[in-house]
Amino acid sequence: MSVVICCILVLYFQIPTVSGSTEWIEYPPDGTATITHYTLPQGFIAACGCTADSTNYPTAAMSQYAYGSSRAYGPGCGRCFNLTLLNTFTSDPPFFPNVTKSVVIKVTDLCPTGGNGWCSATPGHPNPAGQFINFDLAWPSSSIPSDFFPSDPAVYGATAANVKQDFGVWNASYQTVDCIQEWAGGKTPAALGSVVDAGGVCCPANPTGNANDTCPSYSDQNGIP
Ligand SMILES: *[C@@H]1O[C@H](CO)[C@@H](O)[C@H](O)[C@H]1NC(C)=O
Ligand SMILES: *[C@@H]1O[C@H](CO)[C@@H](O)[C@H](O)[C@H]1NC(C)=O
Ligand SMILES: *[C@@H]1O[C@H](CO)[C@@H](O)[C@H](O)[C@H]1NC(C)=O
Ligand SMILES: *[C@@H]1O[C@H](CO)[C@@H](O)[C@H](O)[C@H]1NC(C)=O
Repeated sequence: MSVVICCILVLYFQIPTVSGSTEWIEYPPDGTATITHYTLPQGFIAACGCTADSTNYPTAAMSQYAYGSSRAYGPGCGRCFNLTLLNTFTSDPPFFPNVTKSVVIKVTDLCPTGGNGWCSATPGHPNPAGQFINFDLAWPSSSIPSDFFPSDPAVYGATAANVKQDFGVWNASYQTVDCIQEWAGGKTPAALGSVVDAGGVCCPANPTGNANDTCPSYSDQNGIP
């Protein structure tokens, strides 16, 4: 009898541990962020498990603590944001372009935290630009023009190597938008949703943050740090 009592107690005290979750970054619907870019091969199935056709439209990876999981899917998956370039700040002098460049992206990938990198903000510690979110744009890509990032050759140089310079990192503003209405792939069924479930995929067509249409955190679900 005493063995049974012991085991019931153990189970009872394990429940809070199992449901305890990582503290993720809570971000407002609109705000500022940084933008970097990375190479995502066309047709590649990234961390969320969104369909290969999603790569025909603008996509981005989201920094880990805003994305909400350390692997596979997280609450950031499938969300759409209108990103607008504001200025560079690692260049000398900082560059405030005289054109407004915006793109509506869908989050399909995780940008892992690491060192003091742009994707390494935590709830208590912003990235080196003072921002709590980084969007790592899949660029160059077929869906975002090669001249998306403005440049000013007269000030920052115009050699063959840097005439298309993108400055690497931009200060930006973001707005949460409706994927179906605003994302370029929003009316294309093949670009929406997840690949056939092989485990660990979740890419809602139009997540709003409600538990019924937004991915849970894979790492919280599986007790992964
Ligand atoms: C994105 O932001 C820019 C700059 O504020 C604005 O002109 C544009 O209308 C916005 N696009 C959407 C779809 O919200
Ligand atoms: C980014 O833009 C915001 C809004 O204009 C500004 O307050 C902030 O200082 C800028 N950050 C950097 C690193 O340029
Ligand atoms: C905007 O800036 C670019 C260089 O960055 C310059 O070539 C262009 O003439 C400017 N346009 C206006 C309208 O000032
Ligand atoms: C999700 O929940 C919200 C708020 O409770 C509700 O308005 C919406 O219809 C639900 N969506 C789905 C897909 O069930």
